[in-house]
Amino acid sequence: MTLDAVLVGLELSSPDPAALARFYEATYRMQTADDGELTVCRGAQRELRFRRGPANQLLAARFALPSAERLAAAEQRWRDAGLAPQRDAAAGTVQLIDPAGHALIFGVKNPTSDTLAADPMAARLQHIALRTPTPEPMLEFYADKLGFVVSDLVRDPEGVLRAAFVRADEEHHTLALFRAPQAQFDHFSCETSDWSALRVWADHMASVDVPLHWGVGRHGPGNDTFFMVRDPDGNLAEISSDLERCDPDRPVGLWPHAAKTLNQWGVAILRS
Ligand SMILES: [Fe+2]
Repeated sequence: MTLDAVLVGLELSSPDPAALARFYEATYRMQTADDGELTVCRGAQRELRFRRGPANQLLAARFALPSAERLAAAEQRWRDAGLAPQRDAAAGTVQLIDPAGHALIFGVKNPTSDTLAADPMAARLQHIALRTPTPEPMLEFYADKLGFVVSDLVRDPEGVLRAAFVRADEEHHTLALFRAPQAQFDHFSCETSDWSALRVWADHMASVDVPLHWGVGRHGPGNDTFFMVRDPDGNLAEISSDLERCDPDRPVGLWPHAAKTLNQWGVAILRS
């Protein structure tokens, strides 16, 4: 059984939060609030926070569970697994730190945030991907302790783990891990309603003069169609559609470390 958690927000450090905000206002149709310390960009079902610091680093990811009861049960499960969850009673959240130092903040889903506005360009924050030189301890933390479920693994001919896709609900991945020389943020994705909506988003990127950096393509693991743009810090930002939904008893998939795994339709960005 999954945690039934969804990704609802993320926080990145940046040497120029205002430049990122301008980029995401234009590309992801977000509105910005800035209190001088934290820059918050919001759109329907997507929220990005930027704090001054080095580029390409995830500070925190925020998740929501369906109820306070499910959050309490998850907190107990994490204690039983030897983790040290920190509860913030005032905020109603529970925080953990992953092996790379990212804060994972779990709260309860706000029922009013569930309805997609009648916006033809709705896109819901859905997953993040991280680069790490050591994917094994990260996978062990997320899968064996936190309770994410492994959907697919990518191994090279020597059997070395190159990528892992883990889910916190029925959607194929909430987090992807890529082996890479540097530990850094790779990308986030917003899932839109269908393939035609992805085309609308691609046209929108053209209308604001932002070229597609990768795609349109179709990932092997997850089978989603996608494209990515590149923000001023070099973070990748994805729009995806039709991501696989997994049955509870779906076996773990194994993929070769090859360009076609990352893009069934053509060229790929291999992180290592
Ligand atoms: Fe992705």
